[in-house]
Amino acid sequence: MADIQTIFQETIKFAAEKHGSQKVKGSKIPYVVHLTNVAMEIFMAARKTHGFDLGYALQLALLHDTIEDTETTRQELELVFGKDISEGVWALTGDPKLLKEYRIPDCLAKIRRLPREVGAVKLADRITNLQAPPKSWSKSHIRDYLYDAQQILQALKGSNDFLEKRLEAKIEEYGKYLKVSRSESLKV
Ligand code: NI
Repeated sequence: MADIQTIFQETIKFAAEKHGSQKVKGSKIPYVVHLTNVAMEIFMAARKTHGFDLGYALQLALLHDTIEDTETTRQELELVFGKDISEGVWALTGDPKLLKEYRIPDCLAKIRRLPREVGAVKLADRITNLQAPPKSWSKSHIRDYLYDAQQILQALKGSNDFLEKRLEAKIEEYGKYLKVSRSESLKV
């Protein structure tokens, strides 16, 4: 088994090549920043979690959007990284054949059947995504996003204590984007 540094370097190289010039939604930031943010959450969680498979979780973190957002196939991941990784990434991928409202529940059901590191990556992904929403988002879009996060937290209880607490705090904090701004409230 290769050391963690080698696993990280090889996996991030693969992911960065696949995502190419793609940017973090609503920004000019290269997509690989999102992937390393998720990996960073996983590093922190591994320090606090007994028996955590860091190498496996890191690979999932770096590859989690390759099937959904690039031309990478499940078969290709299996060939390069093995079956456990391809299955994990597949579970973390929304099924485009499903209506939008069924995609998250379907993903969560798949994730729950796999090792808890897969759930940890899903939690880490949502923690990373709960930053200030793009200015173009409406209140109802923000509310839906918050609801999705609550659904994820609920379904993945028991996956990773540390990340569940972090997501809980992020959800609490994100609620502020739903409140009316001070200038708006003064007008009333
Ligand atoms: Ni992601």
